[in-house]
Amino acid sequence: MQERTEVAIVGAGPAGLLLGALLHKAGIDAVIVEQRSAAYVMGRIRAGVLEQTTVELLEHAGVAERLHREGLPHNSIELAFDGQLHRINFQALTGKHVTVYGQTEVTHDLMDARAAAGLTTVYEAENVSVHGFDSDAPSVRWRSGGAEHELRCDFIAGCDGYHGVCRASVPDGAIRTYEKVYPFGWLGVLAEVPPVGDELVYANHERGFALCSQRSRTRSRYYVQCGLDEKVENWSDVAFWDELRSRLPDEVTLRVTTGPSIEKSIAPLHSFVAEPLRFGRLFLAGDAAHIVPPTGAKGLNLAASDVGYLARGFAEFYRDKSAAGIGAYSDRCLRRIWKAERFSWWLTSLMHKFPETGDFGQRMQHAELEYLVGSAAASTALAENYVGLPLEH
Ligand code: FAD
Ligand code: PHB
Repeated sequence: MQERTEVAIVGAGPAGLLLGALLHKAGIDAVIVEQRSAAYVMGRIRAGVLEQTTVELLEHAGVAERLHREGLPHNSIELAFDGQLHRINFQALTGKHVTVYGQTEVTHDLMDARAAAGLTTVYEAENVSVHGFDSDAPSVRWRSGGAEHELRCDFIAGCDGYHGVCRASVPDGAIRTYEKVYPFGWLGVLAEVPPVGDELVYANHERGFALCSQRSRTRSRYYVQCGLDEKVENWSDVAFWDELRSRLPDEVTLRVTTGPSIEKSIAPLHSFVAEPLRFGRLFLAGDAAHIVPPTGAKGLNLAASDVGYLARGFAEFYRDKSAAGIGAYSDRCLRRIWKAERFSWWLTSLMHKFPETGDFGQRMQHAELEYLVGSAAASTALAENYVGLPLEH
């Protein structure tokens, strides 16, 4: 096991793996230390929608070949309310599209490329800890195979998700956090059945929000808003399909093909931002620094843009001997993060049932939805936010 690297990356989720790929491309040495097994990381079913900026970063990292073959370009989404469907056509409004390609596939491609390049990833690392990031000699320590390990490095990238050790290692007084917990979650089902159509459908319904998404022409991903106290084992497949269909306009309900679920899970909805993202030689990226509710499909895309900026900063540091990029990292990311936080919060507020706002709240949602689909300016704003921004220079 090597004892020193340039960048030690904690976490092999999409943020850590993409950062590893971008650094390799830039000729910078990096080792990834992950607490779970590779199979566990691959088994997590999460996001499905990639912005153009994320696709470009994957292209730049040289891992977009299968994405271009199998990813599904989507030019629009459908908003459903009052039994009607309303198309928001991104291509017509912004000239851009998004690509439907699962986080599992992105992770798969990044892991394969990493293995093919012979790069080091330590899986099943126990008791990972980070040290000395306020000095010139940071290091990451862990235990595996019954032995203690230490990896010395120039920088640590904290890509270890919301529950990770990196953010938790920053002294309380150095970090400020902002948080909102929503009073509901999403119950998600993955099934080997054709999707309802070419577009994703986001439905506002008096029984609660529903989303029809997909992974391919033969695999569907569906979600329904659920209570925080609900247990996934109490939801049979039949109960899920019945609930989903009850929340969709008739023309969509008729197109739902049911089948056995391959995966079923509940995710709570949460907005969270930690500021800043840099503490000496430790940089936070992805879910380690921020969480968005999944309604805006921004979580994975923000993780990608963070590491896009970070890889650029490290490249400038090693190649141009300039610390400007890493110096600007936190502010650059935070500008984009807060835009995504606002959009995700707004779309969540517009589409979900909030029991505490009562009938007035529900009528306001409908009035706003009517305004949104009837106004070119409002539809364009939605489309611009959904397809995402290019990286700042
Ligand atoms: P993660 O994917 O969380 O990866 C962090 C990695 O660090 C993990 O592999 C973890 O095992 C590892 N790690 C943690 N602690 C340590 C440690 N101490 N030492 C070493 N390694 C550690 N986004 C959407 O856009 N749409 C969705 O439908 C959606 N659904 C989601 C459902 C769930 C349950 C969750 C948790 C997230 C969901 N997201 C969704 C968000 C999206 O998946 C995340 O934004 C994305 O995974 C962020 O990537 P990341 O690499 O920053 O973090
Ligand atoms: C998904 O396919 O998992 C998905 C798609 C769009 C979202 C959230 C999740 O907004």
